Amino acid sequence: LARGTAVADLAGRHVVVSAGGTREPLDPVRYLGNRSSGKQGYALATTAAARGARVTLLSANVELPAPAGVDVVKVTTALELREAAVKAAAEADVVVMAAAVADFRPTDYAAVKIKKRDGVEPAPIALVRNPDILAELSEHRARPGQLVVGFAAETDQVLANGRAKLARKGCDLLVVNEVGDGKAFGLDTNEAVVLGADGSERAIAPGPKEDLADAVWDLVAARLGAAEH
Ligand code: CTP
Ligand code: CA
Repeated sequence: LARGTAVADLAGRHVVVSAGGTREPLDPVRYLGNRSSGKQGYALATTAAARGARVTLLSANVELPAPAGVDVVKVTTALELREAAVKAAAEADVVVMAAAVADFRPTDYAAVKIKKRDGVEPAPIALVRNPDILAELSEHRARPGQLVVGFAAETDQVLANGRAKLARKGCDLLVVNEVGDGKAFGLDTNEAVVLGADGSERAIAPGPKEDLADAVWDLVAARLGAAEH
């Protein structure tokens, strides 16, 4: 589907998209974060709205204007994102996890700013695992036929790692980006392969993030349509 064509193939559908990257606080002024710009998630939200969907955008630390006609829920941490995602997914036809979720968070949060002291080495930062939101949403579908889509950035063995990840997560589609050497992060273009739990594999040519978003919605719309017949 070419961008700009007003095919409302997601009309009557509620889609939930997460975007950006979570931040895991260490103290009131510091956090562990990642470089996700949120551009791909925002492109997914914008294009879904253009195709007629009702869109809930779970936005983690993104500095982009809210897309018109989209319901934006701001979150900071992985735990906040999980809560917002479970809530929004309860009445969604599709959930797309495009956000970069921190795998770990600091075990302890210092309620006051951590201070350095002369002659004292800093304590190591202890970390604990965050819940895997995508795996959780995939395992506990809020409604029958709900589609769950994940994103993965891989630096090497992109297809093999992507297949393994798709199986581990239990989602329907996994959009795999090759990253490293300046690819994808913060850029306006993206290149990907979309792997399906049904064994399908669709290569997406390098191009604007809106085009990748539309290609994802094409695959989603086909699956939603097929489920009805
Ligand atoms: N994800 C999630 N919750 C997490 C970690 C990741 O929902 N705690 C989602 C991301 O939003 C993304 C997908 O899982 O859609 C894949 O993220 P990725 O970091 O590639 O997967 P991981 O399982 O964390 O594997 P890795 O060890 O390679 O980081
Ligand atoms: Ca990860």
